[in-house]
Amino acid sequence: MSSSWDPDAVLAAHAALVPVAWRVGSAEVPLASAVGLRGYPGLDPALPALGEALARSRVAPPQRPFVDATGGVGALIALARALGGPPGRLLVASAAAQRAALGAGVEPSALEPGFPWDLPPGSVEEAWWRPASERGWSRVRAELDGWARALQPGGRLVAVWHKDEGGKRAERMAAERFEALQVVTRAAGWRVVELTRPRPDVPVPDPWCHWRGPDGPMQTLAGTFAAERVDAGTAALLTALERDALRGARVLDLGCGSGLLSLHALRAGAACVWALDDDLAAVRSSEAVVSGAPGAVVRWSDLTLDVPEVRAVDVVLTNPPFHVGRRVVGALSEGFVAAAATALRPQGRLWLVANAALPFERLLASWHDLRDVTPAKLPGYRVLTASRP
Ligand SMILES: C[S@@+](CC[C@H](N)C(=O)[O-])C[C@H]1O[C@@H](n2cnc3c(N)ncnc32)[C@H](O)[C@@H]1O
Repeated sequence: MSSSWDPDAVLAAHAALVPVAWRVGSAEVPLASAVGLRGYPGLDPALPALGEALARSRVAPPQRPFVDATGGVGALIALARALGGPPGRLLVASAAAQRAALGAGVEPSALEPGFPWDLPPGSVEEAWWRPASERGWSRVRAELDGWARALQPGGRLVAVWHKDEGGKRAERMAAERFEALQVVTRAAGWRVVELTRPRPDVPVPDPWCHWRGPDGPMQTLAGTFAAERVDAGTAALLTALERDALRGARVLDLGCGSGLLSLHALRAGAACVWALDDDLAAVRSSEAVVSGAPGAVVRWSDLTLDVPEVRAVDVVLTNPPFHVGRRVVGALSEGFVAAAATALRPQGRLWLVANAALPFERLLASWHDLRDVTPAKLPGYRVLTASRP
């Protein structure tokens, strides 16, 4: 990395939206993609599969006011607009996806941050859903319970999933919650499924996992990173962290997940902690864990850091992501380092853990006092600390 490395430029590139077109028959539906979203710089591959099913009339486009839960970028809303169809609401749980949806012209009033289990019983006539099965089956189960409860008796849920993402298992779970399940297309492993007649005896969704973390009781929404355990990398970071580094400090927990590092910082005497995550499930989980603690603030934001008060912090703690779905995405790593540089005061210190194969030592080459503090016996991870250039 050159000494002219400019974190603001990296973050500006991170914030840039890439226009993408979703082809549905002869229609080209304009959408946007962003770093960190599935399929970036293109589309989530589920959308072409869904587009094909729509173009071949295997499934009818939205018929009634509907909920778009196909990944947060507003694909179905944009399609309905192009076809002169009914209005839709966008159920969105990613701050980056929300930015992309707004960039593609989804009205702010159509945005509904949340999850299927938030929707009132019987409030939905129609919904389109792309489950995030890589977030685990307890998340898929809670979302399915949410849909079965929210859907009106005569409503329909259109779902799209891939056989390699556990499509068969998802179908079995869906059949336990809906009386009618019809696979409308199978193509290249993708399956588009129409679910109707929600069963009346579906359990009330319970998406919360209760567990004990190293610093106290945890309450984490299913599908949040490491929802019921301490990630091995995070454990390495906790071991390496010098306790004095946190006492009296203003701390940013960048990509806070369950809120475990925020809780640790508060217990270690941090003056204040900002917990920030792109994922709404992480934000709600962190709120559940640190809410009420003086000095704790949880914010839903991606790395664009549209949180003006998060500036000039003393310490950044992070276990940055490197996957989106099941794909490794390198651009996220540089974005996390740039966001840390932007948030830290001069000489403020970053503590970071990552998979040893990732290029963080190179990304931190222009920082000061770069040290590898990986605890012994953890060869798969690298815990690094450095102070801001
Ligand atoms: C590896 S997890 C670490 C979570 C938690 N700090 C821990 O150690 O258990 C990375 C976190 O970064 C969040 N994340 C991913 N992309 C992000 C982005 N662009 N902006 C902010 N957070 C992001 C993920 O949602 C996830 O919670």
